[in-house]
Amino acid sequence: MNFEQLKPQVKLILAKTNKTVDERLLSICELLESQIKYYNWVGFYFRNENKDELLLGPYIGKQTDHTVIPFGKGICGQVAVSNENFVVPDVAAQDNYIACSIDVKAEIVVPIFVNGENIGQIDIDSNTPDPFTEADERFLEFVCAEIAGILS
Ligand code: SME
Repeated sequence: MNFEQLKPQVKLILAKTNKTVDERLLSICELLESQIKYYNWVGFYFRNENKDELLLGPYIGKQTDHTVIPFGKGICGQVAVSNENFVVPDVAAQDNYIACSIDVKAEIVVPIFVNGENIGQIDIDSNTPDPFTEADERFLEFVCAEIAGILS
């Protein structure tokens, strides 16, 4: 499936109000990981209400030890403070990077805004070097905006 074909699937999953928010987010992870071959780990981090740190949410892919990420640390922690997409074509070239697996070559993180506030992010790791284009950013911004719609 290409991005345009995936968009209605994303909407369908998020509209399932008989499922919890976490169940729906996990289904989004499953959809993206299964349909886009260079998406090898797909997950969510959400801001802790009480502390400047991110907490791991639903994800698909290798188990990760990084269930808590302080603001500013790693790619995810930097997005928590920059409020901007972060596309990393080569993770080995990043100083402020938290490695989860030696297989990961690239990463993209896109923030989720609810009422203008950065409340979390989608994080995708790829085992393919430099796989992400602006089309990934636009698609993931769409996904995050749709998710914001069920969180607000
Ligand atoms: N690589 C991330 C940490 C999270 S894992 O990719 C699951 C980072 O540098 O923030």
